[in-house]
Amino acid sequence: MTLAENDKNRIIELIKSGENLPKEYIYKLFADEEDVFLFWNGRKEDVTNVALPFHSIEHIDEPRKETVKSVETLDMFDMRGRQLKGWTNKLIWGDNKLILSSLTNGPLREEIEKQGGLKLIYIDPPFAVGADFGFDIQIGGETAEKKQSIIEEIAYRDTWGKGISSYLTMMYERLKLMHNLLAEDGSIYVHVDWRMSSLLRMLLDDIFGVNNFRNEIIWHYQSGGRQERLFSKKHDNIFLYTKSNEWVFNADAVGILRGEKKRNNMKRGVDPDGRKFWSIKSAGKIYKYYDDEKITPADVWTNISHIQQKDPQRVGYPTQKPEALLERIILASSNPGDLVMDIFGGSGTTVAVAEKLGRKWISCDLGRFAIHTTRKRLIGVQRELQKDGKDFRAFEIMNLGKYERQFFMDDLSNGARKSKEEIYVNLILEAYKAKRIEGHFNLHGSKAGRFVHVGPLDVPVTQSRLQDIFEECRQKLYTQVDVLGFEFEMGLTPQFIQELREKGVSVTLKYIPKEVFDKRAVEKGQARFYDVAYLNANIEKKGKTITVELTDFVTHYTQDDIEELQQSMRAGSKVVIEDGQIFKLEKDKNGVINRTLLTENWHDWIDYWAIDFNYENKKEIIKIKNDKGETEEQWTGNYLFENEWQSFRTKKNPTLEFTSVPHEYRQTGQYKVMVKVVDIMGIDTSKIIDVKI
Ligand SMILES: C[S@@+](CC[C@H](N)C(=O)[O-])C[C@H]1O[C@@H](n2cnc3c(N)ncnc32)[C@H](O)[C@@H]1O
Repeated sequence: MTLAENDKNRIIELIKSGENLPKEYIYKLFADEEDVFLFWNGRKEDVTNVALPFHSIEHIDEPRKETVKSVETLDMFDMRGRQLKGWTNKLIWGDNKLILSSLTNGPLREEIEKQGGLKLIYIDPPFAVGADFGFDIQIGGETAEKKQSIIEEIAYRDTWGKGISSYLTMMYERLKLMHNLLAEDGSIYVHVDWRMSSLLRMLLDDIFGVNNFRNEIIWHYQSGGRQERLFSKKHDNIFLYTKSNEWVFNADAVGILRGEKKRNNMKRGVDPDGRKFWSIKSAGKIYKYYDDEKITPADVWTNISHIQQKDPQRVGYPTQKPEALLERIILASSNPGDLVMDIFGGSGTTVAVAEKLGRKWISCDLGRFAIHTTRKRLIGVQRELQKDGKDFRAFEIMNLGKYERQFFMDDLSNGARKSKEEIYVNLILEAYKAKRIEGHFNLHGSKAGRFVHVGPLDVPVTQSRLQDIFEECRQKLYTQVDVLGFEFEMGLTPQFIQELREKGVSVTLKYIPKEVFDKRAVEKGQARFYDVAYLNANIEKKGKTITVELTDFVTHYTQDDIEELQQSMRAGSKVVIEDGQIFKLEKDKNGVINRTLLTENWHDWIDYWAIDFNYENKKEIIKIKNDKGETEEQWTGNYLFENEWQSFRTKKNPTLEFTSVPHEYRQTGQYKVMVKVVDIMGIDTSKIIDVKI
């Protein structure tokens, strides 16, 4: 400690009198070898180290079955380019802090190391107020802009809640985790603009070390307005740091031809083999610069433009970055087969380019819509690669599911005197705005004359649980009950609910939203419990071949839900919602406003649907570390949804097909066909249909 005696006395006096210490003492008080260090309110050295298991919820390893049978080979890829073995790319839904910590400290780390480690990270963290989370939704062929959902808003508030210090805390923890996960010869690109560039560069210096700073890339573009009283802001900054002195840089892959442009004071020449060059003599030596030689681009990039309104790349994500930008980064700092990651994935630009360039990838985002957009985009990439006869890799959609909920619950009940179960039930009832009731086995609360059952935290609500709820209601002569659950057993059918209704108890199933764990969302009444939707599908059977036709989809968005959607739509949107329906408003040439109903039939609510022709043939296995620190595999009791055929709307092609291609089974037997619909609000609904072949 470098404190003199009078400093020590002064500090003691100041503390005793409850006054703040002058900032100069920061350096004198804390042991640090550096004479410059970064400090802000909330800086903590410890980062999260939880390792939660990942759920794999969906598997997409082929663009869609156009031909019925696939001939497997012993190679890594089958005849159609479909990957059979090895690494599966990962699209992970959730907050990147828990995801990163689970990747870094959990069993997936081993798998990452087996792939040669994580070689490249690109991040484009939120840095503009508000705009980061919005996206376009497609309704009946029309585009409506939607603002962030509440869960995204909360992340946004956490990031910016206390201003810059909370932003730094958020980024610091994530950058430290990324530094840990990055391979020794790995690189990270951090994309920022003028708002955060100064702070993030300091943060990166602090974590990666000043010596590992490699480049500040200036990405200069033309789009955006012109300022009148200052120079127009026309660039973003992209910082490149490496983890060590060893790193990948493929100068040739990103090199640009030197060209024939005249150079000052140089002489033109031609070699005997016809190659043209410019030359200069310096210190008795002649230097030749050939026109056809490649040179490494400078750190100011001027030839990549922002995505334009009409650009076919556009997927309706306001912060979407151009693929050309990511192409340069990925080509320069990774090799084919290397693992690339983006933890602020957005619309999936990084991983779409990574897939096209034959890299492996991990992407995550906390927005439901970002994940859905990336899923559609990557299926599109797989389809393109397949069409061009190129190989493509499988990807899986993952989340931390019930483990994340348990983590939040443990956090909430930590140190509380009540039992966890008690806290949990109260929490959900409060979010649902229901009153607690006592003296029942299966009923926990009541709301507006309906009884309420709170489903479990970590397992789906099953048919037998519904039966118990029904029995209790019938005994007590209750006629209406809401059953709240994070998940519902797959086989629950509208028919079963109808049967209960006919026997005198009207049961409504509602999803518990993740927002219940956020006190602020609950206090503001923003935790919205959506009703479980239903779909119907018909199966046409001919011998061993089936075709699936989607025949109905019933959403139960209430006026409240819809109003929330409407409120969240940006001002000036031409789409409005009234009485549970969505309308488009258009002014004709006489100034009269015409209303067109966009959700005329059930088709209009659907954005995407997919089929697994043999659900239950692939168990969901998770890896967890046991007490001895060894990795163990465990079956979760669930199955993976293998996305074998799908139809979805894109900006370019907003029409959906409602009948699948024929699917031929190789063997006779009993199969379960699972159909999954994602509606325009981004909510999933599925149904299982039994078929006997
Ligand atoms: C600027 S956008 C990225 C855009 C992306 N580069 C693209 O080309 O589409 C930032 C993204 O980070 C996501 N995000 C913000 N905070 C997050 C968090 N804590 N965990 C995971 N994703 C987060 C947002 O949902 C948003 O999609």
